[in-house]
Amino acid sequence: MSSDPLVIFTPSGKRGHFPIGTPVLTAARQLGVDLDSVCGGRGICSKCQITPSYGEFSKHGVSVADDALTEWNKVEQRYKDKRGLIDGRRLGCQAQVQGDVVIDVPPESQVHRQVVRKRAEARDIIMSPSTRLFYVEVEEPDMHNPSGDMERLIAALADQWQLQNVQSDLHILQCLQPILRKGNWKVTVAVHLGDETQPPKIMHIWPGYYAGTLYGLAVDLGSTTIAAHLCDLKSGEVIASSGIMNPQIRFGEDLMSRVSYGMMNKGGDQEMTRAVREGMNALFTQIASEAEIDQSLIVDAVFVCNPVMHHLFLGIDPFELGQAPFALASSGALSLRATDLDLNIHPAARVYLLPCIAGHVGADAAAVALSEAPDKSEDLVLVVDVGTNAEILLGDKTRVLACSSPTGPAFEGAQISSGQRAAPGAIERLEINPETKEPRFRVIGSDIWSDEDGFDAAIATTGITGICGSGIIEAIAEMRLAGVLDASGLIGSAEQTGTQRCIVDGRTNAYLVWDGSADGGPRITITNPDIRAIQMAKAALYSGARLLMDKLGVETVDRVVLAGAFGAHISAKHAMVLGMIPDCPLEKVTSAGNAAGTGARIALLNTDARREIEETVRRIEKIETAVEPRFQEHFVNASAIPNSAEPFPILSTVVTLPEVNFNTGGGDGSTGGRRRRRRG
Ligand code: FES
Repeated sequence: MSSDPLVIFTPSGKRGHFPIGTPVLTAARQLGVDLDSVCGGRGICSKCQITPSYGEFSKHGVSVADDALTEWNKVEQRYKDKRGLIDGRRLGCQAQVQGDVVIDVPPESQVHRQVVRKRAEARDIIMSPSTRLFYVEVEEPDMHNPSGDMERLIAALADQWQLQNVQSDLHILQCLQPILRKGNWKVTVAVHLGDETQPPKIMHIWPGYYAGTLYGLAVDLGSTTIAAHLCDLKSGEVIASSGIMNPQIRFGEDLMSRVSYGMMNKGGDQEMTRAVREGMNALFTQIASEAEIDQSLIVDAVFVCNPVMHHLFLGIDPFELGQAPFALASSGALSLRATDLDLNIHPAARVYLLPCIAGHVGADAAAVALSEAPDKSEDLVLVVDVGTNAEILLGDKTRVLACSSPTGPAFEGAQISSGQRAAPGAIERLEINPETKEPRFRVIGSDIWSDEDGFDAAIATTGITGICGSGIIEAIAEMRLAGVLDASGLIGSAEQTGTQRCIVDGRTNAYLVWDGSADGGPRITITNPDIRAIQMAKAALYSGARLLMDKLGVETVDRVVLAGAFGAHISAKHAMVLGMIPDCPLEKVTSAGNAAGTGARIALLNTDARREIEETVRRIEKIETAVEPRFQEHFVNASAIPNSAEPFPILSTVVTLPEVNFNTGGGDGSTGGRRRRRRG
């Protein structure tokens, strides 16, 4: 057994014997302990902070004397005076081993620290960004041994950081010489670490030690909105988040109308590419100014988007995506330069686009798969990203299937008579008393229900303007529970239901939620065409899920994850009463928020996750709903509320669905045999 002192690192538990005088940083490196350093042990960066512990450690079988490390030295004191150092902390490159010692590496000193995500069931992100900072001392030029400044910088990176084969672009060469001399041959270099296909590359260079950080963007490029998170590539923290409406909306609200715009207008696709890139740059400027950072310090960006947005962003005509067999120009992940996409961030910044799963299941669904990891799930999980198209993933660690289902815009409040986007004044929650059939509701911007004191004052500024997607789902489900709506989707008359809230509306009936007309406000009703629009949307969603269940040979799922902004707001109970999602215990239905954006963030902060999702996407089985005959059958059954062919036994333990039938021969109650909505 070695007589050298024993060094034990926590939390890793790694341990080894080292000769007296070994710097703690050296011991850490030899044991593969995750201890950061930018300056390579020169006492400049303070990234190597550690906390030694003293006393008896029976768990580790060591006793640590007060002099287990060398005394506090001048370098540490200088650092403490200049920048401050928490009491009890030492610099790992300065403190040397003198005896057995237990050393804790605090999270901020770990290169691969975890960024904790807020949701309990979410995986933490392990930091492993594409670009890191390295401080080097470069040899000065020597007339007797002539070599270029760049060659000596590359040699220094190899010697001091074991970075082999480092390359650089012309823009670094153009600024290299003055920076080296200004820094007195000491410089900090940002290096993109590369991967198996590309060597490491110098991105930026600063004279002396650069104490700042680098930034990256995680961008969720949606058909309606573009949302970006600006992240610190060192800490993993989100520094700022911002979003804008996608400027392409002026070419068409939905994806198919944008594809058609490209088909019908010469150069239309390029026009849309320009628009989205300009919008993106405006967003980046906005987010950098909000965070008060220099936009040119953004060195990496990850994008997730649906296939049509993917093609338009890249400058590829999406024509082929508008028709069977929905061929993508490329389904693989893409590593590009920001300048290729006209993005105003660092001139050498890299851009990574996650792979697309299929012609209708894009990189946004891949990002959801990365965030929610159905491929690692022990139980069978259905992940639904609800938008204009629903992206659906079903599986567990043995097998994952994916499809996209054309739900249309009804869930976002479009095609609904009193529908609107989720904004202040929109009804977002609604309940109907099953006895009186009277509604009570809440609008966005207020926590007070409409039958509570203070409601009028609470909505004085917003008013009651319409009903948003989550509100319409609750309204229709509550109408079904209260017995004013039958399973086929017909609203009863005042006589049939016993409430004057049911009013005649042409050949059918409508349910009056709110009448603000006396004060010049809107009259908010749920009409039969509204019900039909939601029936079609939810039937498309359910049929996609059911089709994947058929393919997997299962009748039930263990849990359901609702992703997307809309998914975050819908009530599990009401979604199930409508038959949007398969029958399953309500507590097993959870919301993942913006899972696509989270997936983008994971891929930004952890390059290993990029390889992981590329591999996962290769293994995901893609199902094309358009060519599956059973989709239509499921669709017809799922048009009923909740379903005409499938029982919802778990749901029926929670709620009772009244047996009502308002189809008295007249009216337009038929739900069967409808034409399926076209994609888009
Ligand atoms: S490694 Fe930079 S201060 Fe210790």
